[in-house]
Amino acid sequence: MAERWLLPLACLAASLLPAARSARSGEVCDCNGMSRQCIFDWQLLRETGNGYRCLGCLGNTEGPRCERCRDGFFRRRGEQCCLPCLCHPWGSLGPQCDSDGRCSCKPGVMGDKCDQCQLGFESLSEAGCRRSGQSLQCECDPAGSTGHCHSGRCICKESVTGEQCQRCKQHFYNLDARNPAGCSPCFCYGHSVTCISADNYSAHNITSTFQQGSEGWQGVHESGSPAQLQWSPRHQDAFIAARTSEPIYFMAPAKFLGNQQLSYGQTLSFVYRLDRGGRQPSPHDVVLEGHGLRVTAPFLPQGEVLPCGISQMYTFRLDEHPSSKWSPRLNHFEFRRLLGNLTALWIRATFGEYSTGYLDNVTLVSAQPVPGVPAPWVERCQCPAEYRGQFCQSCAPGYRRDIPSQGPFSICVPCNCQGGGTCEPDTGECYSGDENVGNVASCPFGSYRDPRQPHSCRTCPCGPGQGCSVGPGGEEVICDHCPPGAAGANCEYCADGYFGDPAASQPCQLCRCNGNVEPNAVGNCDRRTGECLKCIYNTAGFYCDRCKDGFFGNPLASDPSDKCRACNCDSVGAEPLKCRSDGSCICKPGFEGPRCEESECPACYGQVKVQVELYLQQLAELELLLSEVRAGGGTGSQELEGRMLVAEEMLQTILREALSLQASDRSLEGRVARMKGQGSSSQSHLDEIKATVERVRALGSQYERQVQETRQLLERARLDLDRSGAALLRVTIPVSSFPGGSNQFLLLAQEALRLANR
Ligand SMILES: *[C@@H]1O[C@H](CO)[C@@H](O)[C@H](O)[C@H]1NC(C)=O
Ligand SMILES: *[C@@H]1O[C@H](CO)[C@@H](O)[C@H](O)[C@H]1NC(C)=O
Ligand SMILES: *[C@@H]1O[C@H](CO)[C@@H](O)[C@H](O)[C@H]1NC(C)=O
Ligand SMILES: *[C@@H]1O[C@H](CO)[C@@H](O)[C@H](O)[C@H]1NC(C)=O
Repeated sequence: MAERWLLPLACLAASLLPAARSARSGEVCDCNGMSRQCIFDWQLLRETGNGYRCLGCLGNTEGPRCERCRDGFFRRRGEQCCLPCLCHPWGSLGPQCDSDGRCSCKPGVMGDKCDQCQLGFESLSEAGCRRSGQSLQCECDPAGSTGHCHSGRCICKESVTGEQCQRCKQHFYNLDARNPAGCSPCFCYGHSVTCISADNYSAHNITSTFQQGSEGWQGVHESGSPAQLQWSPRHQDAFIAARTSEPIYFMAPAKFLGNQQLSYGQTLSFVYRLDRGGRQPSPHDVVLEGHGLRVTAPFLPQGEVLPCGISQMYTFRLDEHPSSKWSPRLNHFEFRRLLGNLTALWIRATFGEYSTGYLDNVTLVSAQPVPGVPAPWVERCQCPAEYRGQFCQSCAPGYRRDIPSQGPFSICVPCNCQGGGTCEPDTGECYSGDENVGNVASCPFGSYRDPRQPHSCRTCPCGPGQGCSVGPGGEEVICDHCPPGAAGANCEYCADGYFGDPAASQPCQLCRCNGNVEPNAVGNCDRRTGECLKCIYNTAGFYCDRCKDGFFGNPLASDPSDKCRACNCDSVGAEPLKCRSDGSCICKPGFEGPRCEESECPACYGQVKVQVELYLQQLAELELLLSEVRAGGGTGSQELEGRMLVAEEMLQTILREALSLQASDRSLEGRVARMKGQGSSSQSHLDEIKATVERVRALGSQYERQVQETRQLLERARLDLDRSGAALLRVTIPVSSFPGGSNQFLLLAQEALRLANR
């Protein structure tokens, strides 16, 4: 909704922009009134003949001239701004609409915005509307989906993903319809989270059918004391009878115990019969113990009653899923641990005094590493370098168990053998199979045997936590396993492409130049400070993280062509080597235009205008004075002399002003030169002013000469006066000394003012 209100505002802003500067033959920033900022683009110039590309188009427009609507917007005939199409994301084929704002609809959908179902259709979804009365078909993988579907979308079990719920989420494996979570988490003894189903294990059941005897099953009281178990040759089953109320259990033989990892996620099932009625199950009817953990489960959900005298199959899933009913709730890892060393499997036999329980066909689904029916619930792990084995259960050569008592659950750590030798994974004892290391194996880690003193160990000249060995020539001691990025015999400096100071315990880190250096170049960053030394793509900065002066863009963009591009600004009108992050130029005072190439004329004309006005005023006074002098007007020579002094001063001032005007004119001249070729009419204005000022100056010099002559004249007159002793002498300055000059001067000055006022 908010956008609807914003649009007219954007449009208003666009209409408030000053009218596009006289669009002379498309040579300027022409943005159809939707922007006044352009950037110059040579490519665009070549393609279209006008290189000005508009920036920041308003009114939802885009394009080099803001000439078209943005995607998902349309323009009503005769309107300037673009309005949003607002096509319904589900009902329409795309976000674009026609010039009346009408969207293209999916099947069964109608309305300008495709937001309604056609008659006879219903339930708008991403697939459009469906025909009324037709159920939406969900094509879901039954193994991975919950069986529900929502608007054509399959609802997956918790560890499953994919459009049809057809694959396991990351870190899970074995999509199985019988698994309430869909897939099992990778186990790998905690050393890896990546696995797939193994292909070299086959299904195999561990069973007791009691065909020949009790098969090693025993009776045990809840307290742990033994109880009698009997075998029936006639029924070929096992049974236990109670005389007291203390529960007695069937206790499984060894083949059901030990490492039963391969049964994880599979079932334990058995056939059980009780000869008494009305007995309720307890929470502890089936008991699993192992690895210090114990879980129990009831035969039946609470509230149900065990059937009297009827054989029934009971099945229990061996995993931590809540639906598996084990309590307490273990996590995945704990359940795996429990199965990894199963020490007890008990099945309840008796429920109360004089009850007898019968057991048959016990089955623990498992797998074995032989060809046969595949057992996809067995995992095959992708192990890190320290581990080996299908389940990452072993240490790789050169590694040993950190805590041997944890068995395969223990992490593996390097052996600590001299010369990087291998060791016994559980004890860490170094193998002495290698002839060369045979005798030196006894130097403790962090020390080495000097070949010249073979009977003692010397401390490695390496950083903490590092071992060492003697190099091939027997001369050099080489530190083993330099930390990543470190180099040198003693790992004392950072390798090329890294920085830091390992000697001062600052670990080596990769150069951080934001991808703005040649990947294979040498010396990309300072090995100590990390300062990037070879920034490319016009980037600069300590981490090549900004654009070079005179360039703009995003130095961190992944595509080099999106990184830093040259600012395209007028070298005179724009701030040097600078532009904004979108490439727009920063103009110096008095300049404007997309590249700051146009000078704002009022400011520079103003200077001229002030000067010329001063001239005019002074010239008027001079004119008056001269005409009085010419007229002789009965003035005494002293007065005349005084007036001539004033006139002379005035002329000098004018000349000074003319000089400074000429100086400012020189800067004008520079600007004029820059505007050449832009067809600006202000150029001819300035040319005219320049010529005028030039003539003003020339005339000024002429006046100066004439004033000199006048002064000499006056001087002579004063001498004459002195000589003749006459009291008064009329001095007449010949009009020919001012050959129409003053009038012409005035005319020119007026002309200059007229131009300046334009
Ligand atoms: C193992 O037992 C299960 C159920 O108890 C049965 O479905 C399966 O076929 C048996 N597999 C083998 C290989 O005997
Ligand atoms: C299994 O558990 C038993 C009893 O706690 C223990 O003695 C045995 O070492 C364990 N085996 C393994 C492989 O952890
Ligand atoms: C145990 O399994 C065998 C073979 O599948 C079957 O014949 C027998 O009836 C089963 N026993 C019970 C008590 O269900
Ligand atoms: C099964 O295959 C994996 C790799 O494919 C192998 O590491 C493992 O030793 C094999 N296991 C058996 C029991 O053959």
